[in-house]
Amino acid sequence: MDQLEVRVQPPDQAARELAAEIAGLIRARAEEGLAFVLGLATGRTPLGLYAELARLHREEGLSFEHVVAVNLDEYEGVEPDDPRSFRAWTRAHLLDAVGVPVERALIPPPDLAVAAEVAWCRAFEERLRALGGIDLQVLGLGRNGHIGFNEPGSARESRTRRVRLAPETRQDAVDTWDGLDGVPTHAITQGIATILEARRLRALAFGLAKRDIVRRTLEEPVGPRIPATFLREHPDARLCVDEPALGRG
Ligand code: GLP
Repeated sequence: MDQLEVRVQPPDQAARELAAEIAGLIRARAEEGLAFVLGLATGRTPLGLYAELARLHREEGLSFEHVVAVNLDEYEGVEPDDPRSFRAWTRAHLLDAVGVPVERALIPPPDLAVAAEVAWCRAFEERLRALGGIDLQVLGLGRNGHIGFNEPGSARESRTRRVRLAPETRQDAVDTWDGLDGVPTHAITQGIATILEARRLRALAFGLAKRDIVRRTLEEPVGPRIPATFLREHPDARLCVDEPALGRG
């Protein structure tokens, strides 16, 4: 319990350090001819990290040939090419820049029928097991403490599944979707148990807007009320925050 390492640093330094850690792990695996399974989050927070990974690829020859990219979540009921899908977002902000074809990434298709989603979620968990699990999972924190789209109330044992989005999560997405009516109501997300099985968890939270949820993540009892508190149960988890997110500065 409470093994979470909290690292206080400016966002650009966090991006550089985490990218360097990921690069080292990718290279170590590649030397053994093994794949590295990298779990990706979407949102504004990891953009600096992905830009730095793209720079390492471009300028320092970091190869992503042996990287399997896995997404945390995806909206439901969106056209596959819709730029607002997490699939398109992940391509635009990382995959295309580092030469990982989207076909080699494990991302829920945003246009599946509900019944097909259930089968996809089961197959996804099996695929992860076959790959040997996620080596490092990048995470952001939702305003209500969600990780992936595991909204408050998500069980410790939850697996990859279809979920209904919380009102505040949909509210936070109104700008992207031209008003609340346009925001998808459901999504597919890795479960809490799925996320906690990753070998390393690296969560990022920057800026004043994250202050309240960072405090609650660190101080409230571990449990489904604030899903991000489950990070404190993981043996190799780190939360990188800047001074404003920690309530300083
Ligand atoms: C979204 C995603 C999460 C992300 C969170 C925070 O809802 N499902 O994976 O971490 O929001 O987003 P941001 O980094 O833009 O604050």
